[in-house]
Amino acid sequence: METIGVGLLGFGTVGRGVFEALAMNGDLIAERTGVRLQIVRAAVRDLAKTRVHPAGVPLDFFTDRAADVIADPRVRIVVEVMGGLDETQAHLEQAIRAGKTVVTANKALLAERGRAIFELAAREGVAVFFEASTAGGIPIIKAVREAFVANHFTSFHGIINGTSNYILTRMTEAGLDFAQALQEAQAQGYAEADPTLDVNGWDAAHKAILLATLAYGIWIDPAQLSVQGIDSVGAEDIAFAKQLGWRIKLLAGIRVQPDGGVSVGVHPTLIPQDHVLASVNGVFNAIALHGDVVGDALFYGRGAGSGPTASAVISDLADAATALFSKSVPRCSGVRPHSLYGRIVPPDDVTSRFYLRLAVEDTPGVLGQIASALGRHGIGISSALQPEQHDPAGRAQLILMLDRARSGQLRAAVREIESLPCVQPPAKLLRVETLKG
Ligand code: NAP
Ligand code: HSE
Repeated sequence: METIGVGLLGFGTVGRGVFEALAMNGDLIAERTGVRLQIVRAAVRDLAKTRVHPAGVPLDFFTDRAADVIADPRVRIVVEVMGGLDETQAHLEQAIRAGKTVVTANKALLAERGRAIFELAAREGVAVFFEASTAGGIPIIKAVREAFVANHFTSFHGIINGTSNYILTRMTEAGLDFAQALQEAQAQGYAEADPTLDVNGWDAAHKAILLATLAYGIWIDPAQLSVQGIDSVGAEDIAFAKQLGWRIKLLAGIRVQPDGGVSVGVHPTLIPQDHVLASVNGVFNAIALHGDVVGDALFYGRGAGSGPTASAVISDLADAATALFSKSVPRCSGVRPHSLYGRIVPPDDVTSRFYLRLAVEDTPGVLGQIASALGRHGIGISSALQPEQHDPAGRAQLILMLDRARSGQLRAAVREIESLPCVQPPAKLLRVETLKG
């Protein structure tokens, strides 16, 4: 049986997970794939860092120079699990130019710079795999690219950031505050090195870009997306939503509009409490998609952490090993742009229902002024809630569930409402998605 040398760029949560899973299940993987995968070198940032030296590897297994791993003649597949943008892009391009097959879990890099990397790989005839970049252990990249190749996708709705979902779950179920819940997620290895991307929605947005790029064959500029993170959700919003029969989830939505444009966005969203996505909790991710041939399909699994991500990386390694024996770049790698879809819908033109929470003076006529302002923008109210309790400044909380409106139209109405003397800005605005149709 042939042994294929693998080099790791990074030996943290994911890199160590890959090493350990291959050590645990290497024989099984070899039986299934017909090749033995052997990690021969790993790059880390800090050689002096205290770390448990993995069993059975030589003392010079670690290097602090990624270039050493890429240039190592034993390494035929380079696995990038170190994160980062500029320097990491340079390493991947160096690996591609050296003819090494690439596996990466780096969604930020692929969403921001993927076009350059995939185009270089196509020119060089090198395969690039990225299953671990999106939704951790869920094989959604493979599903979209391979299993559902027969379909026009109508929509994707996904909970695709494990850290945000973990934080929202702990805030909802255990009453933890945001900082405590984030600390737990970091300790479990779910969060990014800089968790800002988890809580501001951009980690999920990067994954949504990759899914939409694969599904619709278009390169997407991140600046075209509307992205809002869970840092905009207060404990009171979670409680009010619950009272009204909804759950708040960080939801990535990708949808084909009637004119063929594609809307892509990430927002904390109220979804019905009896919808299956509402019961996706903790680090779990789920993606509900609709294809015109297959109909509805649902994927569920752990979205972050060492084991689930290692499982996805190793599935890529198995494909990468097979690709080494084929004469052409396999269809299960890279991204193939096509010409059937071409337009991302500007965020202001995307329609949704909305939840609006306002701190208002508790005087007669206030609701009328707000309803009039919404009416001037053509926006209807479907229900309203005003709890008896007031905030410490004596203001009342007014929660309005609004009818479907264009985002741009709604934002203009909210600007007008925030300027009313009876309203204390800022207004809190969240999306509402019934997930029907
Ligand atoms: P991590 O635990 O912070 O590990 C990063 C590893 O890369 C460490 O071993 C670090 O070295 C090494 N490294 C960082 N900069 C380096 C450099 N300039 N040169 C050489 N080595 C360098 O990160 P992680 O959680 O494993 O995530 C790695 C990648 O996988 C990221 O792109 C992340 O977005 C992605 N990902 C993570 C998960 C997850 O659940 N954690 C899931 C899916 C995808 P030291 O050990 O010396 O610090
Ligand atoms: N930080 C990411 C998350 C890791 O929490 O989902 C998985 O991509």
